[in-house]
Amino acid sequence: MTTAPRTPSAGSFPEDFVWGVATAAFQIEGATTEDGRGASIWDTLCAKPGAILDGSDGSVACDHYHRWESDLDLIASLGMTAYRFSIAWPRVMPTGRRAINDAGLDFYDRLVDGMLERGITPYATLYHWDLPQALEDLGGWRNRDTAYRFADYAAITQFRLGDRVQHWATLNEPWCSAFLGHASGEHAPGHTEPAEAVVASHHLLLGHGLAAQALHGGRRPARVGLVVNLYDVTAASDSAADADAARRLDGQQNRWFLDPVLKGTYPADIVEDFAAYTDLSCVQDGDLETISTRLDWLGVNYYSSFHVAGLDAPAVPVVGARPTPWVGTEDVATVDRGLKKTGMGWDIVPEGLTRTLVRLKKDYDAPPLFITENGSAWEDEVVDGEVHDRDRIEYLDQHLGAVSDAIAEGVDVRGYFAWSLMDNFEWAWGYARRFGIVRVDYDTQQRTVKDSGRRYAAIAKANGLG
Ligand code: FCB
Repeated sequence: MTTAPRTPSAGSFPEDFVWGVATAAFQIEGATTEDGRGASIWDTLCAKPGAILDGSDGSVACDHYHRWESDLDLIASLGMTAYRFSIAWPRVMPTGRRAINDAGLDFYDRLVDGMLERGITPYATLYHWDLPQALEDLGGWRNRDTAYRFADYAAITQFRLGDRVQHWATLNEPWCSAFLGHASGEHAPGHTEPAEAVVASHHLLLGHGLAAQALHGGRRPARVGLVVNLYDVTAASDSAADADAARRLDGQQNRWFLDPVLKGTYPADIVEDFAAYTDLSCVQDGDLETISTRLDWLGVNYYSSFHVAGLDAPAVPVVGARPTPWVGTEDVATVDRGLKKTGMGWDIVPEGLTRTLVRLKKDYDAPPLFITENGSAWEDEVVDGEVHDRDRIEYLDQHLGAVSDAIAEGVDVRGYFAWSLMDNFEWAWGYARRFGIVRVDYDTQQRTVKDSGRRYAAIAKANGLG
């Protein structure tokens, strides 16, 4: 089943709407051993046989560390006025604490200057999953101390860049760091201990709160945000079992992060569900006040939605299958609705984005929102040097339509960042999945704007470019 593509007309977005593209350090930079960068947990995971689908790593990636000037030219040539990038903690602090590596900060200093010279506003993410391995060796996000080290790193980075960078995101998708990193083991550090995932989620949120306070307390004005990956979760039927499956998945995926940050409490039903794994003694007095520190904006990464059913018995484990990232949900199944799927196998559900945004307004009275990531992977073909990626264009049009629907319903959405500027290292999938609106030929490092890149540039231009 396909939905007809929608074309957002000029004027569907506010005049000052921000149009941008997004990337992350480990996925594009390469140069993992240059200029004093320390090792990160993703370097370690990549070295583990079988962890990455195509056996690749981030040592070269898009070679952005050396090609950043032409990459910024590319962003400018698409007419973009905002760029969401991430800063690699192990470049700035090779062991995650104490020693600062000036050469690492210099790189981001030049990058930020390069953006400003081209009229591109920087949106910096401080943590897009590349924890210094030395901190992992001390317990990583299972260790409360990491939250304090993260706040130090935030303050140090802001001290250097804060005269030019105003928009800061603390963490990218803490759900992934906690649950893919510690429950399913698909992401670094690759653990499969549900209790660890819950504890890590709390320390990540605490790190967010402490870093937000540090950024607010800096010498320069900072607009502080957090980026979460939200999914619209629906029950396959109104049976009690299906409704409960939806409650649990929505609770772990969405409310577990939104409630503490925006309401100052953990959702009681999920605390109860987690009780079989941990008593949450990691939550200390005052933590929730720290976590709910004022947020100037919330970043929403949206890709898909889940349609779920509750099973009578836990699903029969398939040999070699990974454990579920959602703690204690072995009796929950995702149901195939027969919708069109992306190259990741993810259902395409644009209206789920509208529902997600409307919910943030209604249930959370959320601060201004940015779509900090949205995009799709496809098996692109190069024909006469061009990529006619119609599926990606359709996905883009539908999701921009979904954003403009939410705006029409009164949701305060301030901008959209396409994931991604260019094809890159897609974590456990290596280079085997391409999300770029620009193609990267990994043999030559040549960049080619895909049809979707041209389409996106045209939409942004028609809507006035914020
Ligand atoms: C998100 C990540 C981003 C990218 C997209 C496809 O979960 O934040 O780095 O991998 O998925």
